[in-house]
Amino acid sequence: MKSMSLTIQRMTTCLFTHSLVMGSVFSGLFLLLFMVMPAIASEDYQGRNLYEEHCVACHDSSVYTRKDRIVHSFSELKERIKQCELSNDLAWFDEEVEDVATYLNNNFYHFETR
Ligand code: HEC
Repeated sequence: MKSMSLTIQRMTTCLFTHSLVMGSVFSGLFLLLFMVMPAIASEDYQGRNLYEEHCVACHDSSVYTRKDRIVHSFSELKERIKQCELSNDLAWFDEEVEDVATYLNNNFYHFETR
């Protein structure tokens, strides 16, 4: 009888430990995922939000892909965005210009960024 309850006790301990370990491994993974994902996605996401809110009034995306497009490098892209942004009475921080440049570059221009 004693050994029976000992076995049960061991089994429970084992199960408990097991689920504790697995649980923390999984929540650790989840935590990592949530910490890393926004860092990867944020630039594009932020850029896209800004872009969609402020930049579709005068032209659509066809200007970025037209044959005689006026932008030919990542730095020119940032300059052009600044001009468009200012002519739209916005006062963006460099970071916001950078985010939108990254968004447009990822989706249309594909320049080297450095
Ligand atoms: C007030 C109207 C206006 C708004 C608002 C505007 N743009 Fe423009 N944008 C223009 C015009 C006009 C051109 C074309 C200039 C040309 O062809 O010489 C242009 C061209 C561009 C180009 C260059 C396209 C090429 O040929 O490679 C980019 C990039 C651009 N805009 C980005 C933006 C972004 C980002 C925003 C939002 C901040 C924005 N624009 C908002 C008027 C605007």
